[in-house]
Amino acid sequence: MEKYKEYTINNIGEKVTLKGWVNKVRNLGGLIFIDLRNRMGILQIVVRPNTDIYELASTLKSEYVIEITGTIVERENKNDKIKSGDIEINASNLILINKSKDIPFIISDDTTALEDTRLKYRYLDLRRNKLQDIMKLRSEITFSVREFLTNLDFLEIETPILSRSTPEGARDYLVPSRVNKGMFYALPQSPQIYKQLLMLSGFERYFQIARCFRDEDLRADRQPEFSQVDVECSFIDENEIMTLGEELVAHVFKKVKNMDIKLPLERMKYDDAIALYGSDKPDLRYDMKINDITNIFKETEFNLFKDTIDNGGIINAIVVKNNSANFSRKNLDNLVEFVKGYKASGLSYLKFEDEIKGSISKVISSEEINALKEQLKLENNDLVLIVIGNYDIVKKSLGALRCKLASDLNLINQDDYKLLWVVDFPSFEWSEEENRYVACHHPFTMPKDSDVDKLLTDKSHCYSKTYDIVINGYEAGGGSIRIHDEKVQEIMFKALELSEKDIEEKFGFFVEALKYGCPPHGGFALGLDRLTMLLAKTDNIRDVIAFPKTSSAYDLMCNCPNTVDKNQLNDLGIELKNNKS
Ligand code: AMO
Repeated sequence: MEKYKEYTINNIGEKVTLKGWVNKVRNLGGLIFIDLRNRMGILQIVVRPNTDIYELASTLKSEYVIEITGTIVERENKNDKIKSGDIEINASNLILINKSKDIPFIISDDTTALEDTRLKYRYLDLRRNKLQDIMKLRSEITFSVREFLTNLDFLEIETPILSRSTPEGARDYLVPSRVNKGMFYALPQSPQIYKQLLMLSGFERYFQIARCFRDEDLRADRQPEFSQVDVECSFIDENEIMTLGEELVAHVFKKVKNMDIKLPLERMKYDDAIALYGSDKPDLRYDMKINDITNIFKETEFNLFKDTIDNGGIINAIVVKNNSANFSRKNLDNLVEFVKGYKASGLSYLKFEDEIKGSISKVISSEEINALKEQLKLENNDLVLIVIGNYDIVKKSLGALRCKLASDLNLINQDDYKLLWVVDFPSFEWSEEENRYVACHHPFTMPKDSDVDKLLTDKSHCYSKTYDIVINGYEAGGGSIRIHDEKVQEIMFKALELSEKDIEEKFGFFVEALKYGCPPHGGFALGLDRLTMLLAKTDNIRDVIAFPKTSSAYDLMCNCPNTVDKNQLNDLGIELKNNKS
């Protein structure tokens, strides 16, 4: 088989035979113009009157499949919007290979068809240029990943899809067993345990483009079924694995975008990311950091601020540079409502214009205003937005406000990529739902050497050997150094309040494995869908998956999930509570 050929002005005079779909036909009374679409894009075909094929050509409709033979000629009216815009084919032969029913929507990048219709006819939606390009990009990404890792002696090894529940923290998708009635497999949330076992087995460098399944609430960047570039190595430390991860990502950027990513990437501690950006995945394409201004108000007479500090709260601000005059009272009221959505009690603001205006301008002292001017380096027309209260709420709400303002005020250069590592996450996070500390990453994550002794006594101050790679405000991947010492693993399970029975039942085989000479190891997983989204510049994860699910985890094309017939359930020994089948 030969490679596809892309025809250009250099091919003028060549006789070619091409197959593809009729994208559009225009019959101008005399000449018939056909836009032929295939893997190489669109090429214009001209059928002239008084030729043998004219009659057949005048019956063609959109999406008919045809074969055309003709000579490449230079176009009179060139089209710089398509790659083949300098040329057209003067047709001498035409074969109608197949007809098409009238299509439910026009196949074009500026289609106005609803997404639900496009998902129902996904196979047609995938004919659109935009999606063809994204699928090509995705294939180039996976190819460049394989190229990079294979060159470093990594082995690509597949792990089971029918497996045991893994500890990534979402709900599992379960598969009932027919042979072992009443028992279930879980689809893997990630190959985490398997890849650690592969290190134990001595493979040392593993990777896999792994399918993962998580039954969780979906968002614009989450699907129930998604793919990871999953990597694990033995005898490696945090620094080495982050270097490997960023070199891999830089290789992909170079290969598919011809972009140079400057290495090493910035490494920001989790605590600093929260303090400065109110997020563990800060978007560094714009500034607008969060400023702690609590100190300025230590002696304040303004009761609201005074009470906040007395109660252990903080006062933080973000500054919108050179934009104060553009914010009306109504705009500001909307921002107040916005932060309330993040549990903030409200939002105070100060407009530094010719005179200082704003909700708290009359109640804070001139010394405090001067201190603000100095610390925040305020200039004329700056707007200061202040949230007070509990640390987590203040940071989270100002972090969200920062992102909203950057988007509303068009502060983001959409051509820009800003990558960084966020490192040193806490080992545990408090779960309101479960009323206990749960693993921030997963229970196999190695604590910082200095924190191992604190695992049982001071959970809120334990940090771990973890790292997330963040690109333009998205968590594109993450990983950790794992616990390879059976004793530390036991302490970790205890810290997570897992009973002996739980440990034995859920991870018994794994704890047993750790007893047989486990090498120190660590790894990471890149979200392949998210990486593709970032490189394709789309914020909809469905654009980068050939056959995605809706936000309610439904496949509109195959109509699934669906009911199954009674016999199938009987085979599995399953009876439904509200028996719909
Ligand atoms: P984690 O759970 O952080 O780590 O997942 C790694 C990366 O996978 C992507 N991702 C998703 N993408 C689309 N839809 C989803 N529902 C979804 N969930 C996660 C993200 C994320 O950064 N086993 C560990 C990795 C390790 O420790 O080696 C893991 O799965 O981009």
